[in-house]
Amino acid sequence: MTTTEPLDPEVLLPAAGKLGEDLGAYSATIMCAIGNRLGLTDALAAGPATPAELAGRAGIDERYTLEWLRCLVAAGYVDRDGTAYRWHPPYDLLLTDAAGPFAMGGLYDLVGALAANINEVVEAARGGHGIAQSDYPPDVPAGIARINAPIYDHALVDEWMPQADGVVEALQSGAAVAEVGCGAGRALIALARSYPDATYTGYDVFAPALELARTNAAAARVSELITFEQLDGTGALPGRHDVVLLFDVLHDSGDAAAILANVRSALNDGGRVLIMEPRSQDDPAANLGPVATTLYATSLAYCLPVSLAAGGPGLGTCGLPEAALRDLCLAAGFTTLDQTPVFHPAQALYIAR
Ligand SMILES: C[S@@+](CC[C@H](N)C(=O)[O-])C[C@H]1O[C@@H](n2cnc3c(N)ncnc32)[C@H](O)[C@@H]1O
Repeated sequence: MTTTEPLDPEVLLPAAGKLGEDLGAYSATIMCAIGNRLGLTDALAAGPATPAELAGRAGIDERYTLEWLRCLVAAGYVDRDGTAYRWHPPYDLLLTDAAGPFAMGGLYDLVGALAANINEVVEAARGGHGIAQSDYPPDVPAGIARINAPIYDHALVDEWMPQADGVVEALQSGAAVAEVGCGAGRALIALARSYPDATYTGYDVFAPALELARTNAAAARVSELITFEQLDGTGALPGRHDVVLLFDVLHDSGDAAAILANVRSALNDGGRVLIMEPRSQDDPAANLGPVATTLYATSLAYCLPVSLAAGGPGLGTCGLPEAALRDLCLAAGFTTLDQTPVFHPAQALYIAR
């Protein structure tokens, strides 16, 4: 850019301040991602500690621990009291899983894993090609699972299902439930624990996610209630089902229209499909603020390239707002798509019939 206009500090300084604030927030975010990987987040949540004590708890180097603590003191996340440090409450709850439905620790796992993949994303953007799920670090599926787990563990059964007309009754009376794109299985596990009379099948195209799912189901003692099978949902769905979950999968997939059509064909009369997609506006220009920023960044780093690699259009994280999703559902043979009134800042729940 060339300009003959003199630079105006009154214009530049507020903008520099905004960039500085965002850089500071990014820096604190990366420190939280590193803290999760090193076990420092949980170790500090166990109680106040000197750097030496904390390093001992996490089993890492004391000098690195001190620098991490100082950075998070600067960010306002950690307090220093004499020689001891502690999370500034309630960050200890939010950054670990102790905050239940409000837990945010998984976001830091995912941001860290995606940052580690930056070179691949740069190359993909230059060439316009995709990145297969299998080319991402293994902590990406684990991070995704941890992000959505608070919904499944704390809201799905008690708050979300009662908002989905007729689904609770179906689950209570032994419905055949399937999930396409089940990932680590956390949604089906939560349902199986509460509705053990229903039968559950989790499908996913990505074998490592299914391994996580089987491990999680065993840990939750519901292995005998859920079958996990490797399957690409863009092909036919086996069996007949009363309730099908499509949670956070359509925008990532190679062909959302084909998945919806296959699910529709495998639905029993009166069956329902529950669809969870990132909460976005029909007009992309209306997707503003920190949640939308994070959704778009996740999109460029993961959702878009993964869909392209699967032969899809790369809808992106915000690519299926309500109107676009309704068009797809109607084209797939559903007669209605309704958004349920569940509240979540980043996800919306729909019911298709
Ligand atoms: C963002 S993850 C969400 C996983 C899980 N539903 C959750 O909420 O934690 C999307 C999942 O959909 C799976 N997936 C994408 N395309 C698929 C397809 N065509 N058939 C089956 N699974 C698919 C991916 O492998 C991945 O596990």
